[in-house]
Amino acid sequence: MIVDRLRRILGRDDSVIPFDMFDEIYTEQEARRARRLENIYHVGQDKIWDGRQILGELIAKHGKPQLTPIQRTALARIFSIIMWGELAAWKISAQLANELVPLEAKMAATSQVHDEARHFYVMHDYLEALGDKPNKLDFWSRRVVELTLATPSLAKKLLGMQLTIETIALTIFQRVRELEVEPVLTELLPYYERDEARHVGLGVQTLPGLIAKMGFAERVDFALFHLNLYGSALASLKAMEPDLLSIGVDPRSILAICFRKQSDIDDMLRVEFPAWPTDPPEQRIFEGLCELVFPSEGVGAKVPIAARVSHAVDVTRRKRTGVLEHVSKKTRNVRAAEALRARVP
Ligand SMILES: [Fe+2]
Ligand SMILES: [Fe+2]
Repeated sequence: MIVDRLRRILGRDDSVIPFDMFDEIYTEQEARRARRLENIYHVGQDKIWDGRQILGELIAKHGKPQLTPIQRTALARIFSIIMWGELAAWKISAQLANELVPLEAKMAATSQVHDEARHFYVMHDYLEALGDKPNKLDFWSRRVVELTLATPSLAKKLLGMQLTIETIALTIFQRVRELEVEPVLTELLPYYERDEARHVGLGVQTLPGLIAKMGFAERVDFALFHLNLYGSALASLKAMEPDLLSIGVDPRSILAICFRKQSDIDDMLRVEFPAWPTDPPEQRIFEGLCELVFPSEGVGAKVPIAARVSHAVDVTRRKRTGVLEHVSKKTRNVRAAEALRARVP
């Protein structure tokens, strides 16, 4: 470590180009994973889309976005968070592209950098067409991206970017698209969703191998980071609640989709790494927190704080079902309609 620092200070760092990067011999399983990672790059190239052209065509087809002032402001606030999130994703994937050594993982991260740059400028242009200046990030959303940006740990960065920020973005895109809030956005979001779904693959193929190499103390530290990150994401969803309700989105439906996506990702991880945990403590604690912040009784339900705490503890102990079971697709849509009627004049 000290020798490495001295080399860098003296400008004699010969580790900048990892000439030994091809020395590692892959097992059959590692070789298969490497091919999947390489494929993320090639599929990204095959499915690339021209952001200026697609947004231009959609605006020509549907006209400039037309919304009530309340809906426009709410949509602009939510998608400002998405826009800054895309810039953060651009920066974080550039860090990953720089730091990941194996060729195939580096290719996957590099292809993500290009995608996130496109996502950022297209969202900026869309918000401009909407007629609102992008707002700054709220404290909690900023915390989620800054925790991920600042950590020097590759495993934490992959957890924050590939398995948290991507999942949140995918969920919001899916919900807003399903509700057909605004036609340009409804047709634009599938392009984003296709790219973001591909980006999750880098985390699925890379993260468990990094966790497997951790000692006990590192694993505890990683679990605490996980909880910190998810807790901040939950607080950020709470901060977005009034805007989400204004466009007819029940935040519980976001949580339910998020949990479903997370469970699909866990299934993918288990196919690759059978030892991936099924119900880790941090997951239970997080589901309890969700129950506390967003009681499953629904929007506007008056639940005394003692009952909330008791329900949250029961969710953590698996004695009560959490938000995923409470918000089925049907009730999700009914609640969204109720929320819309209650909030939008
Ligand atoms: Fe993105
Ligand atoms: Fe992404």
